[in-house]
Amino acid sequence: MFTNLCCKNKIYKNLYNGHWIESNSNKLIEIFSPVDGSLLGKVQAMTTEEVDMTIKNTKEAFISWKETSLSDRTEILYKAADLLDENSEEMATLMMMEISKDKKSCVSEVVRTADLLRFTADTAKTMQGEALVGDSFPGGSKSKMSFVSREPLGTVLAIAPFNYPVNLSASKIGPAIVAGNTVVLKPPTQGSLSALYLAEIFNKAGLPAGVLNTVTGRGSEIGDYLATHPGINFINFTGSTEVGQHIASLSKMIPLLLELGGKDAAIVLEDANLETAATNIINGAYSYSGQRCTAVKRIITFDSVADKLIPLLKEKIENLKVGNPDEEGVVITPLIDNKSADYVEGLIKDAKDSGATLITGGTRKGNTIYPTLFDNVTTDMRLAWEEPFGPVLPLIRVSSIDEAIEIANKSEYGLQSSVFTQDIDKAFYIAKKLEVGTVQVNNKTERGPDHFPFLGVKSSGMGTQGIKYSIESMSRPKAIVLNLK
Ligand code: NAP
Ligand code: G3P
Repeated sequence: MFTNLCCKNKIYKNLYNGHWIESNSNKLIEIFSPVDGSLLGKVQAMTTEEVDMTIKNTKEAFISWKETSLSDRTEILYKAADLLDENSEEMATLMMMEISKDKKSCVSEVVRTADLLRFTADTAKTMQGEALVGDSFPGGSKSKMSFVSREPLGTVLAIAPFNYPVNLSASKIGPAIVAGNTVVLKPPTQGSLSALYLAEIFNKAGLPAGVLNTVTGRGSEIGDYLATHPGINFINFTGSTEVGQHIASLSKMIPLLLELGGKDAAIVLEDANLETAATNIINGAYSYSGQRCTAVKRIITFDSVADKLIPLLKEKIENLKVGNPDEEGVVITPLIDNKSADYVEGLIKDAKDSGATLITGGTRKGNTIYPTLFDNVTTDMRLAWEEPFGPVLPLIRVSSIDEAIEIANKSEYGLQSSVFTQDIDKAFYIAKKLEVGTVQVNNKTERGPDHFPFLGVKSSGMGTQGIKYSIESMSRPKAIVLNLK
């Protein structure tokens, strides 16, 4: 679809009013591959005047789009899903080079996104509203009826993170447009080529001009102008807690959906199936080099468990394939950039210097951090609390279930937790006390499947993502009350 994919001299344009337009800004941002340092292409740092023009265009498009039939809106999602499937290989190749995600996971992200769009269309058809009769309330009358429908909010600003540039853009765009909104997409700069490809998919699927427009440019430069623009009616943001809290400080009365950072704990009890726990912890902690908000980012367990679990983990970690994302079976790939690798390396150094026991890993080659596990991490160490967004995992030893809950809840984050046990009563006892959005029982922490509610509390976010929940978040009830004589 995109000719000359990853053409180093290609200047990627922005989608505006159904066309790909060049910015007047002569400021180009070069997108280099974290895999091999090659120049993949250039994107334009749009000007504030162009942001004004873009948002104005989406607001004009909103007038007719909100009147479009639900059937027509859903048909575009189905068509976009088909195009994603048809172009999954090309999109995955681009994404792999752009965000250093292993090829298999890139293909999975594109296919998952196609499924998400179909499920979004199907779900929207079931959210037609309701009719209420007054007499169901004491003293109410049969002659009073309320017809409740759902109305779009207007123009949604969708801001996506680097680690899922396609899925976490579409998980905003799909529910937003099916609800009748228009969307301005601000893609992650590293990931913008993949996200622009997605925009072209929607364009080719027949999305009317202006319903989806894109704005490329560094969030640190254009982000505040976008987030405070008077033309924006809703902000749907996924990214770091730091940026999310910054946006929230600016948003005034604009409703927000924030999916932010995490420090998901895997609590392993003495009766746990340790093979199940180990397999899930490894997949949860090290997939995509730990660059998932829902990665397992700490193990909390007892001495009796740790002494048996650690050898299992060590063997599995040392069998993880390290390499470039195009290699078959690779799990650990170079991190997204040098700054991220430096940060992770700093956490490793702090843990070592503070007396944690290095079980395996702890080294770096370029921006590749070798999968690392520390035992005896204590609450005075940075690694106990900070989000590495890299393949380094601390094990914290406790002496009771209540101490495990206390340490889990002491985190500023509250995205997800896992509990590994064969005792359903203990699982529920712990799950009910954990201050998180989701508790996984005997499974790694993860967002999918995408129709499940996905939310963070505390510093992990506000509002709820997940297909039905996203549609609800980006729409509102409208009541028309009939008063019969
Ligand atoms: P990030 O640095 O916060 O960036 C996220 C998005 O925000 C990017 O598009 C970025 O643009 C943009 N941005 C940056 N500054 C902005 C500003 N002042 N105003 C508006 N937008 C701004 O996060 P990331 O590095 O892409 O992703 C990693 C982080 O996101 C981790 O903390 C991870 O836990 C979190 N995350 C959470 C979830 C979840 O569902 N809870 C999912 C994925 C990631 P640029 O790219 O141009 O900087
Ligand atoms: O960090 C992205 C977040 O949405 C994780 O998704 O499906 O890998 O748990 P998933």
